[in-house]
Amino acid sequence: MSTTEINSGDRVSNNPAARTVASTQSEMTELVLPNDTNTLGNLLGGRLMHFIDMTGAMAAYRHSRTYIVTAAMDHIDFIRPVHLGNLITLKSSVNRAFTTSMEVGVKVWAEDTQTGKVEHVASAFLIFVAIDREGRRVRVPEVIPETAAEKRHYADALLRRRHREAEAARRKQEKAAHAGSASQEPYLR
Ligand SMILES: CC(C)(COP(=O)(O)OP(=O)(O)OC[C@H]1O[C@@H](n2cnc3c(N)ncnc32)[C@H](O)[C@@H]1OP(=O)(O)O)[C@@H](O)C(=O)NCCC(=O)NCCS
Repeated sequence: MSTTEINSGDRVSNNPAARTVASTQSEMTELVLPNDTNTLGNLLGGRLMHFIDMTGAMAAYRHSRTYIVTAAMDHIDFIRPVHLGNLITLKSSVNRAFTTSMEVGVKVWAEDTQTGKVEHVASAFLIFVAIDREGRRVRVPEVIPETAAEKRHYADALLRRRHREAEAARRKQEKAAHAGSASQEPYLR
């Protein structure tokens, strides 16, 4: 099934034209257990990415009220390690919605359960695409940014989108330039 056509039903019928950022805010807390850690007792990056994906998806669901897929994890910063026994709290909200895609910001904090010290340990931006049951893309409501920070995130999300589009165009051009050559690329793009 091609995902390129937008569902002829357009928006989900009971969706409003726009939703506030606040209405998408989501939160998840997890205790870091031995299965989540590497041999040094620190939280595995991949496990943290899973938690980020889940928390990001919650905000996208609340905004779109559709099925969604993760299209991209646009950027992720692992700022400091998270240790076995820490409590991690992840918070997400939709920064901006485009036609069928939404940029979601996720921020992660780790809490030392003994001292109560809380530190910001990671941040990420993800892109989710709204789809219907048949996998066709669905239009999403617009985002209403209300606070100064929400307005900043809203503006920045458009800059990041332009960046991604420019990078995708550059990669496409590069691929076309190398098409047919017998180059032995060490990885696939
Ligand atoms: C994401 C997916 C639905 C995009 O479908 P597509 O037919 O390529 O759609 P398009 O290229 O027309 O893009 C659709 C929207 O997604 C956005 N998009 C697609 N790929 C993107 C990417 N890599 N990064 C950011 N945005 C992306 C487009 O900007 C567009 O947004 P808009 O409607 O708001 O303007 C499709 O590639 C897919 O199903 N991927 C697999 C998703 C998945 O399985 N995720 C789980 C992770 S393994």
